[in-house]
Amino acid sequence: MRGRPLVSIVGSGRVGTACALFLMMRSLCDIRLIDVVQGLPQGEALDISHAASILGIDLEIEGSNDLGDVKGSDIVIVTAGFARKPGMTREELAIENGKIVREICERVRESAPDSIVIVVTNPVDIMTSVALKVLKFPRERVIGFSGILDSGRYRFLIAKRLGVSVRSVEAYVVGQHGERMVPLVSSSRVCAQPLARTLSRDEIDKIRERVVKAGEEIIKLKGWSASHAVGAGVSELVEDILRDKRRLENVSAMLQGEYGVRDVVAEVLAIVGRDGIVKIVEIDMDEEERRAFVEAVNWIREITSKVLSSLNIV
Ligand code: 2OP
Repeated sequence: MRGRPLVSIVGSGRVGTACALFLMMRSLCDIRLIDVVQGLPQGEALDISHAASILGIDLEIEGSNDLGDVKGSDIVIVTAGFARKPGMTREELAIENGKIVREICERVRESAPDSIVIVVTNPVDIMTSVALKVLKFPRERVIGFSGILDSGRYRFLIAKRLGVSVRSVEAYVVGQHGERMVPLVSSSRVCAQPLARTLSRDEIDKIRERVVKAGEEIIKLKGWSASHAVGAGVSELVEDILRDKRRLENVSAMLQGEYGVRDVVAEVLAIVGRDGIVKIVEIDMDEEERRAFVEAVNWIREITSKVLSSLNIV
């Protein structure tokens, strides 16, 4: 008899196992690692179980090659897919990963119809739309993992440059999890001061550029995508849901009228709790930020419709 919530992670590569490790270390839930590669999820689950034992944490962590084992999950985290290679854009991944996300979501719809799905697979804004179409869940229960990573990077760079705690920095990113992301300046604050009052515009723009390119920077340095920060961010979302934290989070969500936009998934701010997205919060933007946001949304809409039609998803 399971007393603890169950979180399934589909994909036991670096990102999936990073998610599992953070969930274990925060003692949030039982974990099921699922992957097509024989032995991989089982081996990773056993290794993380040993780590849990060393830390004195009692959780059930299992590995499986059967997608049907998402059954009974409170949350399903979708990380499976091809990772970006140096020089590749997230969009080039879209069709291939769309097929994988479709297959996973077809099983989730059957075997975990009441779950909340966190989509990590890139390009995440587009993959979140694929998931929503296939799952047929209400938009509140399908969350794209994106802005927590981007705004975490943004806050890190600002805090480092100014020599303050990251907890004293409030900075968000909207738009697209990719080259069209918009690190906001007008609503960002450092030690209760507007960001624009703490750094020159040139320094701010340099930081913003580095945030936009951070994913690529990591791939160039270590040869594959970020995983540790992804695991940390996903564990924040899982905590929001399992503990009904109702925190303001930077996520990708389906817009239905917010910012005057409909039927597109984009990086926005939302309150996340027990049932997923509680409310999308429309943050103020200046004219330049709003223009860039609209440009990003229009681009996502265009690419998403191309991917959905090439996958014959209506
Ligand atoms: C990143 O930005 C993997 O998309 C992820 O690093």
